[in-house]
Amino acid sequence: MKNTVETFKLSKNTSQRLTMLTAYDFSTAKLIDECGINGILVGDSLGMVALGYENTLSVTMNDMLHHTKAVKRGVSNSLLVADMPFMSYQTSTYDAIKNAGRLIQKGGADAIKLEGGSIVKDKVKAIVNSQIPVMGHIGLTPQSINVFGGFKVQGKTTECAEQLIKDALSLEEAGAFAIVLECIPSKLAKIITEKLSIPTIGIGAGNSCDGQILVYQDMLNMVSNFKPKFVKTYSNVGDIMKSSFKQYINEVNAQIFPNDSNSFSIDEEALTKLY
Ligand code: KIV
Repeated sequence: MKNTVETFKLSKNTSQRLTMLTAYDFSTAKLIDECGINGILVGDSLGMVALGYENTLSVTMNDMLHHTKAVKRGVSNSLLVADMPFMSYQTSTYDAIKNAGRLIQKGGADAIKLEGGSIVKDKVKAIVNSQIPVMGHIGLTPQSINVFGGFKVQGKTTECAEQLIKDALSLEEAGAFAIVLECIPSKLAKIITEKLSIPTIGIGAGNSCDGQILVYQDMLNMVSNFKPKFVKTYSNVGDIMKSSFKQYINEVNAQIFPNDSNSFSIDEEALTKLY
């Protein structure tokens, strides 16, 4: 069954947790979708885990469109959410609607996600009024790292926590169908989750959110030297890939691969005529 924004909204106040992972290409999206996940996010984290940038600030609309289209081809039942990259919506409400529309029309996304709370309220409202579902994102919003002074847990002081509660309520009022809570204390995430009538999707926000999201390369330990506290390693796919690559290199060098079962034959008579 296709997951829609209604699936997300209806899950609120049920025991059903929403599950989301990121994906950036066709084959990974297909594998994740086949497992029955509720939503796939083409996150601008692609800048870091797929394109090798230090942060998400260099990701462009063209990058997002390219990867959203690829993911779309692998998705059957998950809700496909595409991130709006840095400077694709901050500049004006017109840009926000226009670029959100491109992710839906050209990329094939079902919904878009953008970062920020009260300061993006008007833009969220305008995009929603254009009939495009919006997922909000507050807490540690990576597009603001230069303002935060790095990747830091947010909402640890009363003032900052109060602001995040206001931000969440603003996004709900603007018409967002769900909100990602990133890297905030679990007890604050619980308060926000209880105050909202739309689902919260946590990443580094504890166990009380209505759903969870992770970057798939993080949970599969594919990016060495990066292991935030909120990530659980489900398998060491990075090590499995490296050992397979090494075995391939060794077998090619030792002429073990390819063998007869990996090769094509030619009729002996046709072969004789070549000599
Ligand atoms: O870009 C991304 O992958 C995200 C998730 C971490 C929520 O925004």
